[in-house]
Amino acid sequence: MLKKSTHPLSLCLLSGLLIIATFVGHNEATSYAKTTKSSALKQHAKKLNKRFLSKKLDAKRWKGVFEREKREVFRFRKQIVAALGLKKGQQLADVGAGSGAFIASFVNTVGAKGSVYAVDISPNFIKFLNKRFQAHKNVKVVHSKATSTLLPDNSVDVIFSSDTYHHFSDPKAMLKDFRRILRPGGRLIIVDFKRIPGVSSKWMLNHVRQNQNQVTSQINRNGFVFDKEIKIKGMKQNYIVTFKTTK
Ligand SMILES: C[S@@+](CC[C@H](N)C(=O)[O-])C[C@H]1O[C@@H](n2cnc3c(N)ncnc32)[C@H](O)[C@@H]1O
Repeated sequence: MLKKSTHPLSLCLLSGLLIIATFVGHNEATSYAKTTKSSALKQHAKKLNKRFLSKKLDAKRWKGVFEREKREVFRFRKQIVAALGLKKGQQLADVGAGSGAFIASFVNTVGAKGSVYAVDISPNFIKFLNKRFQAHKNVKVVHSKATSTLLPDNSVDVIFSSDTYHHFSDPKAMLKDFRRILRPGGRLIIVDFKRIPGVSSKWMLNHVRQNQNQVTSQINRNGFVFDKEIKIKGMKQNYIVTFKTTK
């Protein structure tokens, strides 16, 4: 209820502010909807991958970028791998392996009877991975495509993908391919950046265009069932979610 003494000017000001707030809110919602449209996501991911696809990529320098203690997923890599419930003898694919930050931990965990596919679309990371893991018989390096891992049907028990889902220019094609390569009962594990307006940095909000719920819903709509979220004490910037294939 307005007091009798309320000045007509303050009423004008109040309605003006309400109109501006509605307009700003509408614009924010519209631009957010635009950024999450699949064509916009595709273009954004292609832009992100351009440097990785370049023949000029300095893989050694990027190893330094990915494998530094300041980077949360690298600092917590051993705890992450330990929390995944992997078993000796399993076949695992690390999709978007990059410089191979997780490969040594996976090799130790699946043991000599297991194997680890280090999969990436970047020609220079592939050369780098081949050299880096040439002494490991159970590491198989695979130069993949943006829409397929190129692994054989029913060949892996676990697919792991760190900091890569938001790089998929065609996530639906990748999820279809994941279903194809996973054995019945296989698991998909996604580690990616949290995207929380008001919490995540401006850079992050622009870099990662889908939040955890959107990623989870998209995976659920494409042949997987959400299994669980794995939380690791101290990890703040990234989430870990696991899915089961429905085949
Ligand atoms: C930010 S890096 C993450 C590297 C590594 N997983 C890590 O966390 O250190 C993303 C990687 O995904 C690769 N990538 C992008 N799209 C891909 C796709 N569709 N299939 C496989 N690799 C992909 C890029 O070439 C790049 O090496």
